[in-house]
Amino acid sequence: GFTDPVTIPVVVNIIEQFSGQVSTQQINSQIAILNEDYNDNNPNTNGVPAEFAGDVANCGISFTLAQVNRVVNTRSSWGTNDAMKDSGQGGIDVTDPSTYLNIWVCEIGGGILGYAQFPGGPSATDGVVIGTDYFGNNAAGGVYGDGRTGTHEVGHWLNLRHIWGDGNCRRDDFVADTPTSDGPNYGCPSYPTVNCRSNDMTMNYMDYVYDDCMYMFTNGQNARMRALFEAGGARASLAG
Ligand code: ARG
Ligand code: ZN
Repeated sequence: GFTDPVTIPVVVNIIEQFSGQVSTQQINSQIAILNEDYNDNNPNTNGVPAEFAGDVANCGISFTLAQVNRVVNTRSSWGTNDAMKDSGQGGIDVTDPSTYLNIWVCEIGGGILGYAQFPGGPSATDGVVIGTDYFGNNAAGGVYGDGRTGTHEVGHWLNLRHIWGDGNCRRDDFVADTPTSDGPNYGCPSYPTVNCRSNDMTMNYMDYVYDDCMYMFTNGQNARMRALFEAGGARASLAG
């Protein structure tokens, strides 16, 4: 497999309701949190139960802030139909997604924290969207104010599914070392949480728990992400 360290340049596209709504500090904190989580430096990592300790991955994927684009737009609910990615609708157009991870920050509305496009989709909409309150370290985000929505959405952008496979006990997430489950976990679950006759890995970034309660990717998830950077892989052009 592809084992080299990967550094991904990030373009942050901010659609804000007033100039300066999203601070430089908030932007930098999101980049720092991505770097923590994709390099096994999450401050809560000592919470991983012994059962899963051998599965914890240092993904060796780093993120650098390449560019910040801003536009002011008073729209308060952008939804999930990619309007924020279109300057014709008052958003900001994508910057070359073959060489940049694009993150859009806007008021999504509907209680949605963020959403992502999987590899292989249309270039014009490639990237992740994060609600303003949930971007980086932000007190306004409450239990979702520690920037882990970014980690989760970038996981989707790197081909990861939810750990329950978005279905019943027989539905897979295509990763062998994430125990099977039949639905999301919420809040901050106690260990063990048993579903489908195994202990759920509730502390995985690809579950739905509070930001403070998710702190690991597995080696299998890392292998699935890294396959994208191999020659011919869907994100090979980003592995610089
Ligand atoms: N529900 C969203 C999704 O499925 C994001 C979940 C993020 N969770 C969190 N603790 N920040 O993409
Ligand atoms: Zn998700």
